[in-house]
Amino acid sequence: MAKNAVITGWGCYTPSRVLTNADLERIVDTSDEWITSRTGIKERRIAGDGETTSTMSVRAARAALEKAHMRGQDIQQVIVGTASPDYLFPATACLVQSEIGATRAGAFDVEAACTSFISALAIARAMIVAGMIENALVIGAETLSRLLNWKDRTTCVLFGDGAGAAVLEATNASVGIESTVLHGDGSKGELLMVPAGGSKIPATADTVERGLHFITMAGGEVFKLAVKSMADAAEEAIAEAGLTLDDIDIMIPHQANLRIIEGVGKRLHFPPEKVFVNIQRYGNTSAASIPIAMCEAESTGRLRRGDKVLLVAFGGGFTWGASVLEWFGAHDGLRPPSRLERASRVLEDVVERVRPS
Ligand code: UT7
Repeated sequence: MAKNAVITGWGCYTPSRVLTNADLERIVDTSDEWITSRTGIKERRIAGDGETTSTMSVRAARAALEKAHMRGQDIQQVIVGTASPDYLFPATACLVQSEIGATRAGAFDVEAACTSFISALAIARAMIVAGMIENALVIGAETLSRLLNWKDRTTCVLFGDGAGAAVLEATNASVGIESTVLHGDGSKGELLMVPAGGSKIPATADTVERGLHFITMAGGEVFKLAVKSMADAAEEAIAEAGLTLDDIDIMIPHQANLRIIEGVGKRLHFPPEKVFVNIQRYGNTSAASIPIAMCEAESTGRLRRGDKVLLVAFGGGFTWGASVLEWFGAHDGLRPPSRLERASRVLEDVVERVRPS
């Protein structure tokens, strides 16, 4: 069995339509000054006609597969983390699995709101380490613009659409995901939710009339819980990885609010220059925010091979979690992980098992 799982491919996709704070000033009673000072957001991307969580996931997935030098049929498991799936069911992961030709893969969705990507990563890593699979395609994707009440200024200015993906592969080397911690507190679920459209309050003309199929949020309450929970999860994941805060080269937090990110940094006494922030351009893309940020951190040279990376998220549910990993990057950008390489991993495992202890 493999000792660990490592990210060998990554990709992201954001829609081309940009909605600026100035655009929002024409839609609701808000201002660029309020949005910027309270959240750090300047603009966000909005899915175009025909774009959905699955179509954006597919774009991100194809980029990640290319980086990993893999094809759809090489993938053994597709996991999509999302709170805005194409349908209640079938799972968005099934739509992605079919579209990328991952004909050998299992497929399911994970719903832990903004913590969905870290949750999906934890599951994929556990499946790999348990020997169930050798690789997985893990995606965080959202089309929250379709769940927003565009008359509610307390929510519609905050969120955006997009997708990010990562290919995880088994490895016996000491790189990859070093820890994942996940938490939940369902007693606070009503502070951030979509009330109608599920089995408790099925969609009717009345629920639509009352706007119950939109996101509702008690922002102030969520804010306070977010800072403490993210800081606690970060400390726990770092300790579980056997590291200290000083060992972390870059923190990639969920991008919900610049003030939340700064609050977490302050609470941890973590240097701000080591925190990756791109909320100004995308707003809160929920499950997609960490994989999109990871992609941008890599493409801008902020994320390099050997870096110790801290991912940390918080979201509706409530859910929160963190992961520490050592960034490996692509397979030298030169070669695909060959069948020989995969076979040699199996051989290593056999040798390991028969070796006298
Ligand atoms: O991904 C995880 C889920 N979400 C989050 O993490 C969000 C967490 N919460 C937050 O980020 C912040 O609480 C918000 C950005 C949502 C709100 O910031 P705040 O500093 O907590 O503002 P507030 O809710 O206390 O509202 C202050 C005022 C209110 O007016 P009054 O009652 O003081 O007259 C609001 O009505 O700001 C008003 N307001 C706005 N004004 C202009 C609320 N939204 C807007 C707006 N434009 N868009």
